[in-house]
Amino acid sequence: MIVDRQGRRFRNLRISLTSACNYACTYCVPNGKRLVAAQDELCADAMVRGVAYMIEAAGIERLRITGGEPLVSPKLDTFMREVGQLGLSDISLTTNGQLLARKLPLLLDAGIRRLNVSLDTLDPTAFRSIARGGDLPTVLDGMRQASAAGIKIKVNMVPLRGQNFDQVMPLLDYCLEQGYELRFIELMRMGHLASDGNSFLQQFVSLQQLLSLIGERYEYLQADAPIDATAVRYHIPNHGYFGVIANESVPFCRTCSRLRLSSTGWLHGCLSSSNRHYIGDLLNKPRHEALPALQGLLMKALGDKQDIAFSGGATVMKIIGG
Ligand code: 5AD
Repeated sequence: MIVDRQGRRFRNLRISLTSACNYACTYCVPNGKRLVAAQDELCADAMVRGVAYMIEAAGIERLRITGGEPLVSPKLDTFMREVGQLGLSDISLTTNGQLLARKLPLLLDAGIRRLNVSLDTLDPTAFRSIARGGDLPTVLDGMRQASAAGIKIKVNMVPLRGQNFDQVMPLLDYCLEQGYELRFIELMRMGHLASDGNSFLQQFVSLQQLLSLIGERYEYLQADAPIDATAVRYHIPNHGYFGVIANESVPFCRTCSRLRLSSTGWLHGCLSSSNRHYIGDLLNKPRHEALPALQGLLMKALGDKQDIAFSGGATVMKIIGG
């Protein structure tokens, strides 16, 4: 097993199925153009092999499928079917929910029991101006159907001053009512936000600001979370749970166990590092040739992790899916 000086190792793999997305969220895609798939994306079989090799070489236990938007990918069907056979303890997926109702039978068949849905507002006008694609009622309907089918839903919201801060309470109330766990994600200095500090600071909403707003309406207690969790979790007695992924306020690098694979075959050991390691070619090699080379690259990727805190990175979220 590959372990670093701080005792960290990779347990959670996040695989970006495609960089294509049917949204163009302001904080992710500054030029507003919805994204098409990269030319040189890996095929579903190579990706499944990648997961299998990394289970063996790094001790990966859990998988999250991201994008871009994973549900737009034609690879989804094959990938889900095959990756389900690898004996992972958990497979989950992050989606913007636009195609959720349509893909639900496939997700259920593949054994998906947990979904994260990115949703930044319940206001249709603000939705259009942040997501710049998609349709709000379709997303809400997709979540309702998935939830009714027994899937546990977490909602990801990136609170942004001047864009959706007024939606913090409406979205929290909605999620508590529906039985979804809302996760606020503190804005991260990724891509264009890493180099444009002003734009970042103007929009940034902190954990403390969220808690004082929520505290005006609800009493909350800190709740348990796994040791390598990124979110601080809270319980509102008789109502439910919410969490905050507080990259800036409560850095979680010391216990980070995440490894990321892009749709074009690059390993990223850390979102806050621009280092990446190409494994696309290894995935076409037999196991005995691929594994030793992969071990070496995994060591390097683990060495890319920050000691304490996330400081921002040029890597863009649309490529790696958070
Ligand atoms: N900061 C914080 N969260 C982000 N996401 C995308 N870009 C950023 C950013 N710069 C979120 C998406 C999605 C999750 C995977 O990451 O909204 O919910």
